[in-house]
Amino acid sequence: MPSAWPLQRIDHIGVAVRSIAAAARLYREAFGLHVDPPEALPANGVTVAFITVGDTQIELLEPLGADSPVARFLDRRGEGLHHVALAVGDVAHALEIARGAGFTPLDAHPRPGAHGTRIAFLHPRDAHGVLIELVERAA
Ligand code: CO
Repeated sequence: MPSAWPLQRIDHIGVAVRSIAAAARLYREAFGLHVDPPEALPANGVTVAFITVGDTQIELLEPLGADSPVARFLDRRGEGLHHVALAVGDVAHALEIARGAGFTPLDAHPRPGAHGTRIAFLHPRDAHGVLIELVERAA
């Protein structure tokens, strides 16, 4: 792996759920955590809600429609861990390095994510079954 990988930390862990309302209740009541208001991302086919846990976050993902990739994930595998998001300073640069390292990007170019972020996904077959999201937060 090139030493130039600009990974900074785990930005968040994505969890696919059928109902953000039901999952948010669990995180609030069982763990006493604050759940941010849900944000619909029609271009990505999901509604998301973030839960801050220490210096990282859990992202709840609920499908917006039956043709959403997250809906297909839920049908195939049920609720559970969906992706691990790694923070990078420059997602376009990270995508180039990923290509050079043999990863198969699912996004040819970075695209908008929640809260003004820029994101790109890498295919899980290149990472031992884990879907990896590269995420760049606005400065
Ligand atoms: Co994510």
